Amino acid sequence: MNALNANRNYSLVQCVIVFYTNIMAYNKTMKNEYEQIISSITARLDKPIVVIGLMGVGKTRLGRTLADTLSLPFYDSDDAIEEAAGMRIPDIFEKFGEPYFRDGEHRVIKRLLEGENRVLATGGGAIMTPETADLIWGNTVSIWVQASLQTMISRTSKNSNRPLLNQGNPEEILKALVEARYPTYEKADIMIESDAGSIETIIENLVYKIDAFV
Ligand code: S3P
Repeated sequence: MNALNANRNYSLVQCVIVFYTNIMAYNKTMKNEYEQIISSITARLDKPIVVIGLMGVGKTRLGRTLADTLSLPFYDSDDAIEEAAGMRIPDIFEKFGEPYFRDGEHRVIKRLLEGENRVLATGGGAIMTPETADLIWGNTVSIWVQASLQTMISRTSKNSNRPLLNQGNPEEILKALVEARYPTYEKADIMIESDAGSIETIIENLVYKIDAFV
């Protein structure tokens, strides 16, 4: 290898090292900024965060991951209703009917909104009960999780534990619920799409939206 080629190789290695070091420094800065935003949100947050949206959009997964990210406790109203009733939701609907379920749902959500800041994922119909909506609007940071009809159909088809979807064609029922409920969901403080990218990216976007809101 002559001196000119050796010099060229040396310069190339230097370039790669400088490029790599810059990328690492940039990533570190971004990570620090993101962590600062998270700390600033938890310092400013003075209300619970409530996740709403139709069945199958991924409220529980998103809510739990958000809670982990913000180091907050996570609750799920459907789980709490089942625990309080000692019954599965389809059995509550079958034995006592939907109005009885909505009453219990209201009481459970009221209880779960008390105490330290937290993230609460609610069942899709909770916000449609006016007394439950009164607990949420204005008193919480409400996040509407939205997904395409296709996503909701595919996610809800994995099990049969949603009594409203067992009453006919799930696709038709979901379409009707979109019509009936979107005007209410739209009142949420923040909207996020749950089928646009990885959970990490969605949570990051959500963190920025919460930061801008609180
Ligand atoms: C319901 C949604 C369900 C559950 C119940 C009724 C609804 O929760 O509360 O089956 O009315 O949309 P998920 O939205 O978590 O599936």
